[in-house]
Amino acid sequence: MTGTCVIGLQWGDEAKGKIVDILTREHDFVVRYQGGANAGHTVVVGDQVYKLSLLPSGILTPGVTCVIATGVVLNPARVIEELDELAQRGVGHPENLRISDRLNVIFPWHFAEDRALDKSTSDGENIGTTGRGIGPCYRDKVGRSHAVRLGDMYRPTFRSQVEHIVAAKNRVLAVLYPANEFKPLDAAGIVSEYSAYAERLRPYVCDTNELLLSAAESGKRILFEGAQGALLDVDHGTYPFVTSSNSSGVGISSGSGVPARHIGRIIGVVKAYSTRVGGGPFPTELANEIGQRMRDRGNEYGTVTRRPRRCGWLDAVTVRYTSRLSGVTSISVMLLDVLAGFDELKICTAYQIDGRQTTQFPSHVDDLRRAEPVFETLPGWREEITACRSFDKLPANARRYLRRISELVGQPIEMVSVGPEREQTIVVKT
Ligand code: GDP
Ligand code: IMO
Ligand code: MG
Repeated sequence: MTGTCVIGLQWGDEAKGKIVDILTREHDFVVRYQGGANAGHTVVVGDQVYKLSLLPSGILTPGVTCVIATGVVLNPARVIEELDELAQRGVGHPENLRISDRLNVIFPWHFAEDRALDKSTSDGENIGTTGRGIGPCYRDKVGRSHAVRLGDMYRPTFRSQVEHIVAAKNRVLAVLYPANEFKPLDAAGIVSEYSAYAERLRPYVCDTNELLLSAAESGKRILFEGAQGALLDVDHGTYPFVTSSNSSGVGISSGSGVPARHIGRIIGVVKAYSTRVGGGPFPTELANEIGQRMRDRGNEYGTVTRRPRRCGWLDAVTVRYTSRLSGVTSISVMLLDVLAGFDELKICTAYQIDGRQTTQFPSHVDDLRRAEPVFETLPGWREEITACRSFDKLPANARRYLRRISELVGQPIEMVSVGPEREQTIVVKT
């Protein structure tokens, strides 16, 4: 089994980009397989910071084939912007990029639908999407009749396909928007804009299913880069406050086209506390000065939308659930440095729901809303740990905190991150 996957075990932004960057050098392929430009993955190399939304984090490393696989929804303008930005900075290896001709493409109507529909969740609370057209594009993909795959854009039927869809979408948007805000979409303009994108992307487009299956079968080392976090999984997360793809481990095969038997190592990425961007229940949220302190120390502002991230204590109930769901074989604990200086730290070990205590993650969002966290309190540590490079050199209380996380989640810790840079990483020998 040659595949390794990096999966976020919370609500996203666990620092997956950093772990993927570290592991890239041991791999031949790096694959993005779900989500789209809602993701924002940060890679720090020396004094340079790279924020990648669609390009796999491996694009910065020579000799690695980077694949945007079939399960991704692609905003072509955004991927071109990212390629241009890397070219301007004189870095990256676009010659190694491959994009699936089967993936679905995001069009202007998806942005318009995303803006209109996010305000109208049935229970009144907004999902608070990133506004990148993700949900509407996945909806059209599953609905089939109004979807465009990247491969369609190179066919003579592309123009008539867009004309047909635009006629239907204009009827939908006229209902979703008040008359004074509705601007009909112009099919001819969209065809010409998207045809230019198609030409620009032509060198990269191929059948990535064939590419990846051949790679897996011939023992190439493949690294799968999960986007979002497992609690945002459309089927298994905090529905409906989720994204529209399978962002937990269960989505690796459907998104990439590589069967599970080729994937042997699944690293669950866990932030040492919890964050969430957008709406939805968050049992351990700290809407107080402790949460603000985490936000300040962790610079917890969305990579894509710059929204302040909601912060809270680590929730071991959710992480144990997502770790089991994702088939995790080890965990990496990230941003541990942010917790230095707290007198005490809390970990949620169970929920109290209507007077009953449980360690089971509730399947209905209403139950999660009523869940009161049962906390275990551990002593904190005062010393900054950003210069620490070995497990033994960490303060005793930091080691104790990590051991307790490992016990509660039921997985060994493989890496601990004490700062954004590659070097600020402790490899834990087990
Ligand atoms: P991703 O979406 O999971 O790839 O994570 P993001 O890049 O959106 O957010 C993680 C943020 O934390 C980025 O700004 C990283 O540079 C930063 N980061 C990564 N590891 C550490 C760490 O150990 N400590 C601190 N303080 N920041 C980190
Ligand atoms: P990375 O890969 C954190 C959240 C949005 C919103 C919900 C649905 O950087 O970890 P969408 O635009 O996907 O329909 O929004 O999901 N969300 C993320 N939160 N990190 C992400 O990606 C996210 N991608 C989507 O804030 O609550
Ligand atoms: Mg992010």
